[in-house]
Amino acid sequence: MGEKKIPRHVAVILDGNGRWAKKKGRPRTFGHVQGAKTLEAMCETFWNHGIEYLTVYAFSTENWKRSEEEVGMLMNLLREYMKNAIRRAVDNNMKVRVIGDLSRLAPDLQESIHALERASDTNTGLKFTIAINYGGRDEITRAVRRLAAQAAEGALRPEEITEQMISESLDTAGMPDPDLLIRTSGEERLSNFLPWQLAYTEFYFTPVLWPDFDEDELVRAIDYYNGRDRRFGGVHE
Ligand code: IPE
Ligand code: IPE
Ligand code: MG
Repeated sequence: MGEKKIPRHVAVILDGNGRWAKKKGRPRTFGHVQGAKTLEAMCETFWNHGIEYLTVYAFSTENWKRSEEEVGMLMNLLREYMKNAIRRAVDNNMKVRVIGDLSRLAPDLQESIHALERASDTNTGLKFTIAINYGGRDEITRAVRRLAAQAAEGALRPEEITEQMISESLDTAGMPDPDLLIRTSGEERLSNFLPWQLAYTEFYFTPVLWPDFDEDELVRAIDYYNGRDRRFGGVHE
């Protein structure tokens, strides 16, 4: 038996907070509070297992459809998280980045996100990316607009556009594509998460609800990943 392969970049769709709370007879918002605690603990666990990049889906462009109360609570949770985020990132040597269209967030949130990114920019530990008001189609649309604007100015010819340039125009510019995607709560769909970047990613689905996600579950996901044969369009060796 060879060494265990560790995925360099893991993407996670944190799902099932609402159902977790419902099972306990509590409001959905209680599930989000617990989900945020799980996420904090898991950053350390992922890093301890040798994962370099962790990218999580925290709020989608479609999540604005939820009740005003739930959306407001999620934004406040984010605000709370940001309060201690700089200290936490410094303590844990994490480099934090936020992807998504931040222009729709409250100005104070945008400011604290930028401050966090600046303060953690030179950290050399886990590269932790949080998707907020993120939608893959929205991300691609914004990228296409920027490239089209360059073409319209005459700075770029359409036939010069390469896959590499498109990758570098996305919010995830500079990051390797995820090796493994984990989605909790039994749903087996992407819900608009990283459609371009996940083209050759292995998918691990688990019925565990996000607030209950733990180290054992991460180990199961890594073991599953080790059982896969990634061919990238080539042939089986
Ligand atoms: C995931 O949990 C967190 C967010 C989408 C913000 P959900 O809130 O989607 O929980 P379920 O899917 O309703 O159980
Ligand atoms: C995807 O979960 C978005 C996040 C986890 C942030 P949803 O719960 O919103 O997705 P659907 O509605 O089940 O597709
Ligand atoms: Mg959900």
